[in-house]
Amino acid sequence: MDSTHLVIAIDGPAGAGKSTVSKILSQKLGIRYLDTGAMYRAIGLRALREGVSTSDESGLVALVESSDISFGEGDPQPVFINGEDVTNLIRTPEVAQAASELSTHGQVRVAMVKRQQAMVAKGGVVLEGRDATTTIAPNATLKVYLTASLEERAKRRHLESKTKGMALDYISVRRDIEERDHRDITRDESPLTVAEDAHLLESAGLDPNGVADAIIALLG
Ligand code: DC
Repeated sequence: MDSTHLVIAIDGPAGAGKSTVSKILSQKLGIRYLDTGAMYRAIGLRALREGVSTSDESGLVALVESSDISFGEGDPQPVFINGEDVTNLIRTPEVAQAASELSTHGQVRVAMVKRQQAMVAKGGVVLEGRDATTTIAPNATLKVYLTASLEERAKRRHLESKTKGMALDYISVRRDIEERDHRDITRDESPLTVAEDAHLLESAGLDPNGVADAIIALLG
């Protein structure tokens, strides 16, 4: 299969397995992987560090405009902001919360989508997030909405936190995900939604490799 022009867009709620499946897809198909959530998280980290409130839309836009966000090669995929490696720093619950809050602002999203579309323009990419199928890449070759129940997703994130040595308690992981789901789904600007032409996939009980194969099968 010639993958050079492929654009696979995957959306879904936190903990549905988008990142794991996207990484496998990028390896199997030999295409790039764009984690759009990591970009919001990188801005979230800067906002927390520099004391910019997640309700200060113009302050946040200024942060985006003065941030060079880039990715390296590897697993976990290295994430850089203005040259600093923030790969692990952006994976805390505080940064996830800040990313979810700041991503509700229309002007922040406009600035982010512009960058993301430039990264997707030449094709050969699997991108994942909340508006990949609806706003960043509405003309994607293939659109997938990956989901699982709140309990399933919370269990997965809880286990992940243990293996990373963070040991978060299950109840707070579940509550954080529930709060983020609510904010991501109910915001006015590009809320998380199932695109009309997206394939709906349930990841519960399936191994990520199997989900990736099911997505490749959809390419025909
Ligand atoms: O996918 P993630 O958990 O790393 O994303 C962190 C937050 O960023 C998520 O709660 C909402 C926001 N986000 C977004 O609004 N649009 C995207 N395309 C990706 C993430």
